[in-house]
Amino acid sequence: MRAEWYKDRVFYQIWPRSFCDGNGDGIGDLYGVYGKLDYLKSLGVGGIWFSPLYPSPNADYGYDISDYCAIHPDYGDLEIFKKVVERAHELDIKIVMDLVVNHTSDEHEWFQKSRDKDSPYRGYYFWKKGKKPGRPPNNWDSFFENEAWSYDERSGEYYLHLFHRKQVDLNMDNPAVRGEIKRILRFWLDLGVDGFREDVITLISKPEGLPDDRFGVGVKGMRLYESGPHIHEYLQEFRTEVLDGYDCFVVGEAPLMTTKKALGYLEGEHPDLDMMFSFQHMEADCFFTEYMPLPFDLRKLKRAFTKWQDALEWNALYLENHDHPRVISRYGSEKYHDESGKMLAACYLLLKGTPFVYQGQEIGMTNIALPSIEDYKDCMALKHYYNDVRRKSPDKVLPKIQKATRDNSRTPVQWSAEAHAGFSSAEPWFAVNGNYRSINVAAQEKDPGSLLNFYRALIAFRSGSRTVRFGDYRELCPGHPHLYVYTRSFEGETLLVLCSFTEKPCRFSLPDGPAWGAPELLFANYPCKSGETAFTTRPYETRVYRVRADR
Ligand code: NOJ
Repeated sequence: MRAEWYKDRVFYQIWPRSFCDGNGDGIGDLYGVYGKLDYLKSLGVGGIWFSPLYPSPNADYGYDISDYCAIHPDYGDLEIFKKVVERAHELDIKIVMDLVVNHTSDEHEWFQKSRDKDSPYRGYYFWKKGKKPGRPPNNWDSFFENEAWSYDERSGEYYLHLFHRKQVDLNMDNPAVRGEIKRILRFWLDLGVDGFREDVITLISKPEGLPDDRFGVGVKGMRLYESGPHIHEYLQEFRTEVLDGYDCFVVGEAPLMTTKKALGYLEGEHPDLDMMFSFQHMEADCFFTEYMPLPFDLRKLKRAFTKWQDALEWNALYLENHDHPRVISRYGSEKYHDESGKMLAACYLLLKGTPFVYQGQEIGMTNIALPSIEDYKDCMALKHYYNDVRRKSPDKVLPKIQKATRDNSRTPVQWSAEAHAGFSSAEPWFAVNGNYRSINVAAQEKDPGSLLNFYRALIAFRSGSRTVRFGDYRELCPGHPHLYVYTRSFEGETLLVLCSFTEKPCRFSLPDGPAWGAPELLFANYPCKSGETAFTTRPYETRVYRVRADR
């Protein structure tokens, strides 16, 4: 029997470097996490997903792992990790680790050994000769570099990296590599962790012979290895040989996924994955990634939500993580910070699925604009910047980076109005957003009407509601350009969620007729007149009603 408990919990994502510094060195760590577990409990959180905690040279801040079975010294050691797990479990909080096995760091000993042509580790990676001298083995693009291949002088061959040159792709076709992964899974499960978030897991199976991509659209190569030839086989192997023996779950990250393909991973007696992080709803203000910005289009967002709600029995729900700018700055409004933050919370926390809240989202942390490219750390932003400044002036390129970079969500969590936002007693490793004096946890703790307390109330409501857990989803007025309205219905109870994505006034009438009964207002981000059934929305207004309860 697979675990089902993940369906009754709200998860909280910790990107450890910026969550809370417990040992005063300016870097977030597990000592800081330990001290905040009661806070997370008070938020109603039932699980933590840790972005990578492992040793890493940090070319991609932890997503380039140099040792899978240890803790990065910046974050502590296995002792404090075990304490965190133990205390979290006492609080009934599950722990989910990030499993990053599409690639390892180039500083991992497997890769270092593989540079020797006679090493048994050679076959752990994709080593190849160039097509011609000076030309890489194929024409694939990299997400973080211009080409997916780098030449290694010592080996005299190229190695494949879909991401940064310091993130080298593992050859999953090699049974020894899969053996290592099963060993890593067991290592963490035996330490008591409850699941994994699997990084770009749908990209791990590469096509035989690594052919050129002849179509040349989008990221070249991706259509050949996205849901590649052996993906289901490999995921089944991990599941059958390891995961099935533990009470755990797995959520896979799946860029460029369609609902149709997603079902192939999630359906059936013995699915590959329990849930999937899809991306379409994160593209309502851009094309493919935030670097190709477009004006925000609510209809795109609604189409994505509805498509995934309709197609899948269970979704992983999120609006923020460490890879996207802050959502208030994208889909909401910094001017209507509190209102739009609450509206965004209601818009996704009541959908069908398991919600993930990203650190700082619960207080409405916003984007940051740093004055110079030298201030940025995100390798993806740096790639775009240095490519673009070849053709455009830096004054034109920097604003785009400021808006789009992943660094927006990686600034230290704003715990209080004290020095360094209460994140650390020392100078933090990365810039603190200057708005910490007004946007911080301590201030919102004191205010019963704060965004933080709105998250608390919604999470508590969700946890006690069978309608939110099991109810059918239906979207109302799908063509409306500014309002997102949906209902969730279960056993005679219907909840109606209304969200305005504009500061403009919009008329809205609750559905009427004998089937609907008297509406009961459950949540709102403005004072509302009682008994009101038709009204004009205020900027970024949200209301949640119980509109029918026959029980
Ligand atoms: C997805 C992760 O979320 C992201 O942060 C990382 O850069 C890439 N995968 C590569 O590991």
